[in-house]
Amino acid sequence: MVVNTPPMGWNSWNTFGTNISDQLIREVADKFIELGLDEAGYKYVVIDDCWSLRDRDPETGKIVADPEKFPAGMKALSDYVHSKGLKFGMYSCAGLRTCGNYPGSFGHEFLDAQTFAEYGCDYLKYDYCYFPHDSAKTPNTYLVMGNALRACGREILYSLCNWGQQDVWTWAKAVGGNMYRSTGDIFDNAVSFSDIAKSQLDKYCYSGATCFNDMDMLTVGMYGKGNVGCQKDEMTAEEKKVWFDRYCNQFSLWCIMGSPLMLGADIRNMDEDILNLVKNKDLIRINQDPECRPAFKVTDWDPATSVGLAKLLSDGTIALGLFNFNEDGRKMQILCESLGYPYASGYDLKARDIFTGEEQLLTREMMLEDVAPYGCRMFILTPVKRA
Ligand code: GLA
Repeated sequence: MVVNTPPMGWNSWNTFGTNISDQLIREVADKFIELGLDEAGYKYVVIDDCWSLRDRDPETGKIVADPEKFPAGMKALSDYVHSKGLKFGMYSCAGLRTCGNYPGSFGHEFLDAQTFAEYGCDYLKYDYCYFPHDSAKTPNTYLVMGNALRACGREILYSLCNWGQQDVWTWAKAVGGNMYRSTGDIFDNAVSFSDIAKSQLDKYCYSGATCFNDMDMLTVGMYGKGNVGCQKDEMTAEEKKVWFDRYCNQFSLWCIMGSPLMLGADIRNMDEDILNLVKNKDLIRINQDPECRPAFKVTDWDPATSVGLAKLLSDGTIALGLFNFNEDGRKMQILCESLGYPYASGYDLKARDIFTGEEQLLTREMMLEDVAPYGCRMFILTPVKRA
């Protein structure tokens, strides 16, 4: 299956874990439309682990959807999601059992791919728990499901999830993958998302059209609530502001690094600020740029504490992101030369701040006085010939 830009959608795991149901998925699909998330580019509504009964049907060998959680069955649910113009995603595992201890697809790959096709599934996340083989067999085992999906008679996006083990970035595309999880699970805190991003800074070039580096589902907008949250009941307005800066950082990192954008918050209760962030046209344009160029580092600061990343866009502009991974605010300086525009080029750079709309003309450098703790600044740079 050809996938030209990083997939965008929503996944049930981060907030709901095992508490999923037909009703939840229908409400999420309704909200996608009401909030205009579909128009912003989000298409896949994905049910993660814990959707089936604990055992396969003894006669057919098929995985069976839990009739209490999904009384209308998966086909009816996928029909509903499709009726909204959205795509329907599901989950299984390359091992004997899923991470939540439901049946995995090991040894049943072709039957399960057929079942997913019958459900009208458009996306399969394929996890790695209870893997029975020597890990050297991992690529081959993912290839078996890749082939099963290619043979099932339906286009199903293949989302590998082996947490970045066995250098998955070097073989995910070869086995039919369209995206591959490159790290362990994300949690709803700044250390977790910044560690994930930092661990991928030297792997830019592996990711691109048809097979993207998936830095995991976003926690943007969770505010501590849910399955991978810190279980905070309520936050004060001040705490929320701190968190909002962090969510801007996380979302901008995922955008400029070209990761799939799978929302993980409860979108039925998303506030206006978060909605505007995840629908931000500039950020999404950076993520979905058709040339799919990797970002490159434009700073020689210690990347453990902060990093500047730039990405060439197909319209001749450059996206620039400055990311602070510190508990303290930070001054940051960027040289035009690092962006490929030394003074001698005869070009200045017009910098538009994506979040404030402010513009400035850079001849040799940009100085930023204070980038918030775990915050970021994002710019679109347009080269302008000096008069
Ligand atoms: C693993 C995956 C998560 C999620 C859970 C479900 O931990 O990495 O993203 O799918 O399993 O059990």
